[in-house]
Amino acid sequence: MTIIFSIETSCDETSVAIVNELGKIICQITFNQLEHKKFGGVVPEIASRAHLQILQKIIPSCFKKTNLNISDIDLFCATSGPGLIGGLLVGTTIAKSMAIGTGKPFYPINHLEGHLISPAFNNELKFPSLILLLTGGHTQLYLTKKPNDYELLGETIDDAIGESFDKVAKLIGLPYPGGPEIEKLALKGNSNTYALPHPLKNKKNINFSFSGIKTAVSLIVKKQKKIDRKFKENIAASFQNKIIEIIITKVEKVLKTLEEKKINIYDISIVGGVAANKKIRNSFSSAQSLNKYNFIYPPIELCGDNAAMIALACQQKYKNNVKPNTHFKASPRLSINEMNIL
Ligand code: KG4
Ligand code: ZN
Repeated sequence: MTIIFSIETSCDETSVAIVNELGKIICQITFNQLEHKKFGGVVPEIASRAHLQILQKIIPSCFKKTNLNISDIDLFCATSGPGLIGGLLVGTTIAKSMAIGTGKPFYPINHLEGHLISPAFNNELKFPSLILLLTGGHTQLYLTKKPNDYELLGETIDDAIGESFDKVAKLIGLPYPGGPEIEKLALKGNSNTYALPHPLKNKKNINFSFSGIKTAVSLIVKKQKKIDRKFKENIAASFQNKIIEIIITKVEKVLKTLEEKKINIYDISIVGGVAANKKIRNSFSSAQSLNKYNFIYPPIELCGDNAAMIALACQQKYKNNVKPNTHFKASPRLSINEMNIL
């Protein structure tokens, strides 16, 4: 049985995993770097140094927990982009060194591909399908006709969806990461309190834009005399509701376009850190206009950054005979089609 070892260090989660060829997670250790909280966002230099220190602890722990030895690993892989270059260098260099030391193959993995494959942990993937990728750095819609083949249909032209959650949270004094905080506060808020804009609503293309909503929230916050809990709850609910309206409208639009092209979708996956949001999940599942589709999600704990999804992307490549891509290209905002590898 092929055993895969993986490292994920693209942002502020340091994660290692050992996964078998059936996609079973034998061990995963994920460490959330809390030192960024006081800065209200991720500090790249702090993140890279923390990855280096944390990996030296959690890699041996992962092997110890499983009673496996480095020589038991058949494939090594790491997130090699997109992400913060310091973290990518640390994780990729360590995993690649382990591969070289044991004479085994190293697969550089695109971070987005990890998210895209993550619903395969708890679902059988069917094709063609639509994938909505919602993270702190990306907001993209993909059509996937067969394994390892992702066609980018649309994406954000400014802020990413998770970034907008984080920025709005910061505006009302909530800690980073803002997504879970907004979700919690919104439970008690009235989503009709503030009318926020719906950017690109009448545009034909299927791109997203979130920076206008953040600006609208900042103007409301500036005018507000007392930033109390009730105000925060109402802002959180109004903002979250608008975000949901935007992504549902966009999915409806893209499905209509695909239908016109005679591409019949049944499964829609929603992946990435923001896909952990229960209100978003419930809104898609209960949208009347989307009731003929089947929504699939990764397990909540595998929505955010984790090494297991990187191992799963590696396993898919290995299974489908896709050779590791080893040329160098390091740009921060790559889509899945521009393989970006250290
Ligand atoms: O996928 P991810 O862990 O990292 C990136 O690849 O960017 O996504 C992180 C983003 C952050 O912006 C965070 O605020 C957001 O996911 N997030 C959420 C929730 N949990 C995490 N956004 C909304 N609701 C949540 N429950
Ligand atoms: Zn991510």
